[in-house]
Amino acid sequence: APAPRLEHHTLELYENIWFGIAVVMALLLFVSALASFVSGTYTAIEGTGGGHHITGVDNGRLDPRNLAATPFAEPGLRENPDGTLEAFVVARAFAFQPAALRVPAGRPVTIHVTSADVMHGYQVEGTNINATAIPGQVASFTTTFRRPGTLSLICNEYCGTGHHNMINSVIVEA
Ligand code: CUA
Repeated sequence: APAPRLEHHTLELYENIWFGIAVVMALLLFVSALASFVSGTYTAIEGTGGGHHITGVDNGRLDPRNLAATPFAEPGLRENPDGTLEAFVVARAFAFQPAALRVPAGRPVTIHVTSADVMHGYQVEGTNINATAIPGQVASFTTTFRRPGTLSLICNEYCGTGHHNMINSVIVEA
């Protein structure tokens, strides 16, 4: 039989087509899952955060030994003259500062996170907020907390003996 070679190639072509379709479908599923995740109740957008300059921070970088020269010296929420809300959070072994970040519900808040020592995680339970606090760097994102309540703020990056106790809170006020 002289034909099998051709048939074999034809089968391979079909296999490749089906494989290609499977890959495209998997990608589409992934993208739609990602889209629905991001468009949920909470939105965390990585970025420069408000776009305006932070004292002592140059292009998202700062000296972790000199947080005193930056707004991180006084961690917490502040309202800018233009009405925008910004929060500065410091992660250090083994707590976040402020221990309870108070934010109003329904208003966009740009959160800036940095670390004073080693790498920590910044994860707000029940939301898609998940950032990494890196010494020398500022992670900024803007989010809107929709419902009032107390949310657990946890460190999800192993940072030492007290890692498992590194739990604070975000208090969303009505
Ligand atoms: Cu900080 Cu784990």
